Amino acid sequence: MRDKITVIGSLNYDIVLKIPRLPECGETLPADEAAFSAGGKGANQAVQASKLGVPVYMVGCVGRDAHGDYLLEAAQKYGVNIEHVRRCEEPTGMGLINAMEDGSVFACIVRGANFAVTKEDIDRAEELLKETYLVILQMEIPQEINEYAIEKAKKLGCKILLNAAPAAEIPLDYLKMCDIIVVNEVEASFYLKADVKNEEEARKGIVSLAKAYGTDLVITLGKAGAVVSEGGSVTFLPSHQVEAIETTGAGDSFIGGIGYALLNGQSLTNACEFATCCSAVTVCRLGAQDSMPFLDEVKR
Ligand code: RIB
Repeated sequence: MRDKITVIGSLNYDIVLKIPRLPECGETLPADEAAFSAGGKGANQAVQASKLGVPVYMVGCVGRDAHGDYLLEAAQKYGVNIEHVRRCEEPTGMGLINAMEDGSVFACIVRGANFAVTKEDIDRAEELLKETYLVILQMEIPQEINEYAIEKAKKLGCKILLNAAPAAEIPLDYLKMCDIIVVNEVEASFYLKADVKNEEEARKGIVSLAKAYGTDLVITLGKAGAVVSEGGSVTFLPSHQVEAIETTGAGDSFIGGIGYALLNGQSLTNACEFATCCSAVTVCRLGAQDSMPFLDEVKR
């Protein structure tokens, strides 16, 4: 029975600095607060879907270090199956996040163990993929492994959601194999080679991406909402107006929410509507995985 979500992707140890503004070159800027949390786009998306109550499996790599222990404990605490997360010699990946007072974030990642994921890791997950309804991928593991995973998941009959983030060139053949592609406004601008800053530009852009890729698509616009293209029809979904504390992982919360809702038989557009509730809760708290809501919190 295909009743699982499998996330193939990154796990990062995040250091989040709360700062009033970005430092100038040569300046030492005191941060108001530092928080350490479990992150990585892959693990975040897995944790959000799992916190909502669906069976989620993670495929990826962490180092044999304390950060690796921490990430595996966090994922397990939230119910994510980590049997397919391999411990390797490279240090665990990291996220270094400057979080500004208005909720905006400036982030860097250290790839580390995420770039040790191999084709063999994907092959070892073959039986799991046969029972998987939805495979979720991002762009924080090597591109060739992502392509291999997309091809394999497609062959094995899984539905594929690609969060094409961070933005990078992807061969068209692989994009076409996906069912749903999710990007934020910055990534959409990269793929479209044109600015996407508001609803109007996102509507225009999503139509041309849907035509080029032949997939369903979502462009998220942060607090301005999201635009969904499903089966060629385009819908704008406003976001919920909340007091944002810190937005790290908001996009991942959105994608985990989509995964949960799709697994429960909802259309992509309805799934995105549900997902906006998830990310609205996530931005009201500090950090990525800990701030993501359980199902009852979303409903409330
Ligand atoms: O999307 C947020 C995530 O991106 C962070 O947790 C960071 O680790 C990077 O992967």
